[in-house]
Amino acid sequence: MKQTKIISTGSYLPEKVLTNFDLEKIVDTTDEWITTRTGIKERHLAAENEATSDLVIKAAKIALERANLEAKDLDGIIVATITPDNTYPSTACWVEKGLGIKGIPVFDVSAACTGFVYALAIADSLIKTGTMKRILVAGAETLTKFTNWEDRSTCVLFGDGAGVVILEESDDESGILSTFWGADGNLGELLIQPAGGSKMPPTEETVKNKLHTVHMEGNKVFRWAVRYMQEAAEKALEKAGLTGEDIDLFIPHQANLRIIEQTVKYAKIDPKKTYIVIDKIANISAGTIPIALDMAVNEGKIKKGDILLFAAFGGGFTWGAATLRW
Ligand code: UT7
Repeated sequence: MKQTKIISTGSYLPEKVLTNFDLEKIVDTTDEWITTRTGIKERHLAAENEATSDLVIKAAKIALERANLEAKDLDGIIVATITPDNTYPSTACWVEKGLGIKGIPVFDVSAACTGFVYALAIADSLIKTGTMKRILVAGAETLTKFTNWEDRSTCVLFGDGAGVVILEESDDESGILSTFWGADGNLGELLIQPAGGSKMPPTEETVKNKLHTVHMEGNKVFRWAVRYMQEAAEKALEKAGLTGEDIDLFIPHQANLRIIEQTVKYAKIDPKKTYIVIDKIANISAGTIPIALDMAVNEGKIKKGDILLFAAFGGGFTWGAATLRW
């Protein structure tokens, strides 16, 4: 069986930064509450004229240049997002257009914060089966465009940005060793954007009642997040014949520092080998893992042969993890 490896990464964070102190002026909150309850210090905000595809295109150009490739060398594009440019066409179609290419299959994946891990698992299968040779996988969000800035329990949590990886068939030991993914639709109501889809199409009422923004029962989500992040991490490790102690760098989805600390503890991963960027970027849903990966690469934190673990949990609920040798 062929093996799939990441040959390049790229990321883009919008210019505008909103700190916890800025938020203190908008809602009844404090830097102290946000920092101790979540680990977040600041987040990036997409500009009015910046859509999710714009962020992906910028990140994709970086990854292509680093790999010494042109967009025409890609066989497919997968964009994981829950904040697409439009309901249709897909954000991946706009990315294809923005990269100046046409003709290849491109599509979006909707799995909330687990979106990047889902997209990675799909791309891994497509390459392993020989269906495609080289795929660009992105995780990207403009969550602050779907935020209720009057709701302090959610507006402090999210940020915008895009991360991409380019995957191709491996020619050496490097590559994805295992993937694991799951979902439970029975728990969907706990983390939801209620309006805008076919269940509740947009009306004056839905806009007035801010039903096009994130609604979350944070406490309940927290408990499930800890359980499923840990389970996903353990299952992916087990499938690869590894334990938490084998991990050189753990890059988790970053919704809350306390969720990560508990995952690390239960999955027996060295906290010092966990890459944390939630303080700088907040929760970027599908964007978090590929952005953090690109930051870790840029900082020289990953060397050839290192064993990496990704794990995520998100709305749906969805969860997933992957192990790979760099
Ligand atoms: O991305 C994947 C899915 N998402 C997650 O995994 C997120 C999971 N949930 C969480 O991370 C946490 O539940 C939150 C960070 C969202 C909330 O933290 P918490 O420790 O669960 O707080 P809470 O919701 O239980 O609220 C505690 C108190 C409440 O006040 P009372 O009722 O105790 O007086 C809230 O009203 O904190 C209050 N509160 C705030 N206070 C200041 C809620 N938001 C804020 C705020 N600033 N921004």
